[in-house]
Amino acid sequence: MHDHPELDTEDIPTNTSDNEHFQQVVERSVSRRRFLKSGIGLSAAMFLANPLGTRSATAAATGNTAASLLGFKAIPISTDDAIKIAPGYTATVFAPWGTPLFAGDPSWKADASDDAAAQARQVGDNHDGIHFFPIDGSSSEGLLVMNHEYTTVDKNRYVWLFGAADGEALTADKAAKAMNAHGVSVMHIARNATGKWEIKLDSRYNRRITAQSPMALTGPAAGHDLLKTHDDPTGTKVLGTFNNCGNGWTPWNTYLTCEENFNNYFGTASGTDSRDAAQKRYGLSAGRSEYGWEQFVDRFDYAKIPNESNRHGWIVEIDPFDPDSVPRKRTALGRIKHENAAYTLTADKRIVVYMGDDQRDDYVYKFVSDGAYQENGDNSRLLDAGKLFVAKFNDGATSGDFMGDGEWILLDKAANATLAADPRFASQAEVLIHTRLAADAVGATKMDRPEWVSVHPGSGEVYVTLTNNDKRIGTDDANPREKNIYGQILRWRESGADAAATRFEWDVFVLAGNPVKYTDRKNLKSGSSNITVDNTFNSPDGLAFDRDGRLWIQTDGKYSNSGDYEGQGNNQMLCADPVSKEIRRFLVGPKECEVTGIAFTPDSKTLFINVQHPGEAGNSHWPDGGSSIPRSATLIITKDDGGVIGT
Ligand code: FEO
Ligand code: CA
Ligand code: CA
Repeated sequence: MHDHPELDTEDIPTNTSDNEHFQQVVERSVSRRRFLKSGIGLSAAMFLANPLGTRSATAAATGNTAASLLGFKAIPISTDDAIKIAPGYTATVFAPWGTPLFAGDPSWKADASDDAAAQARQVGDNHDGIHFFPIDGSSSEGLLVMNHEYTTVDKNRYVWLFGAADGEALTADKAAKAMNAHGVSVMHIARNATGKWEIKLDSRYNRRITAQSPMALTGPAAGHDLLKTHDDPTGTKVLGTFNNCGNGWTPWNTYLTCEENFNNYFGTASGTDSRDAAQKRYGLSAGRSEYGWEQFVDRFDYAKIPNESNRHGWIVEIDPFDPDSVPRKRTALGRIKHENAAYTLTADKRIVVYMGDDQRDDYVYKFVSDGAYQENGDNSRLLDAGKLFVAKFNDGATSGDFMGDGEWILLDKAANATLAADPRFASQAEVLIHTRLAADAVGATKMDRPEWVSVHPGSGEVYVTLTNNDKRIGTDDANPREKNIYGQILRWRESGADAAATRFEWDVFVLAGNPVKYTDRKNLKSGSSNITVDNTFNSPDGLAFDRDGRLWIQTDGKYSNSGDYEGQGNNQMLCADPVSKEIRRFLVGPKECEVTGIAFTPDSKTLFINVQHPGEAGNSHWPDGGSSIPRSATLIITKDDGGVIGT
């Protein structure tokens, strides 16, 4: 999602629960005084330079004994309307919005006049999460699957979808085109004889999933009364997925697409605010929605079809290798504003999915399946039964040291005494449909907008981006800055190195900050010691490890390059060594974009990322140049010597 101030709905806190950070107010003020006396610079430098494990333990777990995992030369910031990338690397634009996906279809119309039917057969808008599924292990042929999060709107007007000069009222056909620009694309891609990646337009795998595609609701909440509507009295069949932000995948080769700001699509033309407490907690608009679909399709008017919004906000599992498969919304994983979904396995091979709920003061979750993953077995029901937990990050033995311990609180109607006694949840299905309310009730930790989660391939440590929270009031060790405009990355280690554990230790990996603007390194706004004038950035969002354990970081932040953001330029992609904590800037995007989505071929020699919403405020012509309409697109990144990305 964008970080454009007028458009950023994650910035509106909807968490009105009185969950405090665990320290009582008095304790906190005492500890903060102690923290200040000891010198913030010392604390930041000392504690942030001191990883959770020892260097040798982490190095042994990761096989990382070299001085640095980062082999490329860092690049400076840019404010140009262009891609900048480290020397020796090439980024090629691929599959921009509107690219035809099927043989024989006409080209995209450069004035954006394609209609709804055309859009349903073209690559969607605002590319986000992405994954490459190799065919037979190949690094030169596979299925590229990506999310199309949204279309850019500003004050209820579409900014680019209908062309640059759109001044006309929304119509039913325009709303349908917008719906078809959302969802997911499945593209069969391969390198051609000259080594260039192309879409195989005659492949049976090519597919568009949109905001109107039929899908199923499965798991413990499927069929519940709160999921039943006029059109679906069974509560098991739903049309569409939208605001698909980050993603995940499973070891059985399915794609997970994550429904984030679904609330933006529901409103009412009735003129009356009839929202209930849950609809408010999930941020539905009191009146008209941003997208205006409720004017043409009843299910988007919450006053007409109150339960429709309950059928969105889920993680959807898609089998890209079966183009006829029905996508499945997995209710066991809870209903939040899902950012991404990062899997790992427990010691006994059950699947764990880590998830962030991206809103100011919302929470981090994990799902642990009941059944174990079977390498050549049927895993198609694994995500339908399991336990859902929400995280509590405690300060630990010492406050003010940017580390602590934590616990996973089980969100189970029967097993959790708080939820058992709470009349708002009649059943586990209601806990899952109203996950946020259940997490409020059990005292989860309010975080600085949890975005992507990624699991280190060697150590199993889990990293999460907390993008920013510029209205944060009150701090704790995990969210240590009031009015946090820069964001941070935390990591945790599950107890016993088993992802099934209910306790963990954690520390801050990096506090983003701006030492160009705040030259006093005792000021937390200057960032932790691994932030320098050369790598400064704000608002970490996309996050993924590569197979060798390099941590790739993408930003969706302020790009004014002035004031608090002086010297930070356009949104960008950086890479960190998790042991040394060194961070280098690898790529900078064009004007007004965010950089998001990370996928590698198995040989790690091709990297796919996405440039989303270039020119969201009107000031870009990327990638086509001239006076063209800006378009979101994938970048295919290779090293000119054919080597592994990042070396
Ligand atoms: Fe869609 Fe939280 O970014
Ligand atoms: Ca994001
Ligand atoms: Ca602490």
